Amino acid sequence: MEKEEVVQNYEKYVVGSYTRSGLIFVEGKGSYLWDIDGKKYLDFFPGWAVSGLGHCHPKVVEAIKGQAEKLIHIANNHYHPWQGALAKRLSELSFGGKVFFCNSGAEANESAIKLARLYGKSTGRYGIISMENSFHGRTLATVTMTGQPKYSKPFEPLPPGFSYVPFNDFDALEKAMDAQTVAVIIEPVQGEGGINVADREYLKRVKDLCEKNDLLLIFDEVQTGFGRTGNLFAYQHLGIVPDIMTLAKTLGGGFPIGAMIAEKEIAGLMVPGTHASTFGGSPLACAACLAVLDAIEKEKLIENVAKQGDYLRKKLMALKEKYPAVKKIKGLGVMLAAELDREGAGLVDICTSKGLLINCTHGNVIRIMPSVAVTVQEIDEGIAILDASIAEFTR
Ligand SMILES: Cc1ncc(COP(=O)(O)O)c(C=O)c1O
Repeated sequence: MEKEEVVQNYEKYVVGSYTRSGLIFVEGKGSYLWDIDGKKYLDFFPGWAVSGLGHCHPKVVEAIKGQAEKLIHIANNHYHPWQGALAKRLSELSFGGKVFFCNSGAEANESAIKLARLYGKSTGRYGIISMENSFHGRTLATVTMTGQPKYSKPFEPLPPGFSYVPFNDFDALEKAMDAQTVAVIIEPVQGEGGINVADREYLKRVKDLCEKNDLLLIFDEVQTGFGRTGNLFAYQHLGIVPDIMTLAKTLGGGFPIGAMIAEKEIAGLMVPGTHASTFGGSPLACAACLAVLDAIEKEKLIENVAKQGDYLRKKLMALKEKYPAVKKIKGLGVMLAAELDREGAGLVDICTSKGLLINCTHGNVIRIMPSVAVTVQEIDEGIAILDASIAEFTR
C-alpha cells in the first residue's frame, strides 16, 4: 500500500481523536521499529510502555501463535486453564489477592472504582481521592478520576464522587478526606503527569491514614508495573502494599490485557452480576501474559532494569551537566525523564528525524522509557542521538 493511501484511509475513516506523528510503521523487533520506507528507528518509548519487553518478543509471538491455533476465546461463564493459572501467578508474585481480568488500563481502573464503591456501600461512602497531575484513563469515570481537568472538562457533567489533592502532600490529603471518602488512588510514579516519584515516607503515612480510616489504598501500576521500575511492581520498591492494584500496558507484551488485583476479602465483594468484561482474561490474552512473565523471569529482566536503569540515568545526568536547558533527571528504573527549561515537543521531533523515538509529556518533560530488555549498546546509541538532538535544539 502506498503511503498516501495509508494516511488517506485514516483521515477518511478513522475518528480523529489522536495527534499522529506522520510515521508509518510496518515492522518491529526488540528495541527497533522500521517504517514503510525501510528506515530504522530506536524506540525508547515502545507503545507508551505497552511493548515493554520490546517489539514482538519471540516468546510472546510463539505463545500467541501456539494459543491461537488451540483456543482464542472462551466466555467467562466457562473455565479455561490459562486464566486461573495466570491469576495464581500474579497473586503469588504480588500480595496474595484475587484478580479481575479486562483489556486496558482504564478498564482496570473502572474495576477498582466499582470495587471501592461496593466496599463503601454499607457505610454510605463512595468518594475517591486522586492526585493532581495523575492519569487513570479515558472512560468517563477514569477521566474524571484523572487529576487533569483538561482531559475531563469537555465531558461535563462528570460523575460525582471524585476529588483531587497535590501529589506527595500528606496534609492536603488528610484535609480532603471526609465522611464520604472510601478510597485513595495513587500512581507510585506518575507517568503522564511528568515522571513524579511518590515519596516513601509520604506513602507510608498515606497507608497509615487509610488503615486508620478504613479507606482502600489503590495503586495504579498500569504504567509502572511489570518490571519498569526495577521491581516487578513499583510498590515493592517503595515498600508499601496497596489493597488494590491495577495493571495493563506491558502485561501482554503488546497484546491487550488489563488486570485489577484486590486483597482477597475485598475482592469477595464482586459477586456474579456485579462486574464483567466479555474479552477479559481470554486464553489468548492470558497466554501472552504468561509468556511475558516467563521472559521476565528467564531472561532476568528485572535485574536488567536495575542495571541498565542506573546506566541510562548516569548517561542522562551527563547530558544535564552538558546542557543547561536540562534542569532535572528523574524517575525510577527505566522509567526516566529529563525535565527541560522549555517546551520539549521540538526536541522530540529532532530525535525522531535522527531515528530515536521518545516522548514529551506535561509540556517540558522528556520521557525516556525503553524496553525492560534494553542493552548497553542501545542506550549508548540512544544517548548519542539525544546528545546531538539537544545540541541542535538549544543552539
Ligand atoms: C497510569 C495509567 N493508568 C491508566 C492508563 C490508561 O490505560 P489505557 O490507555 O490502557 O486505558 C494509563 C495510560 O497511559 C496510565 O499511564
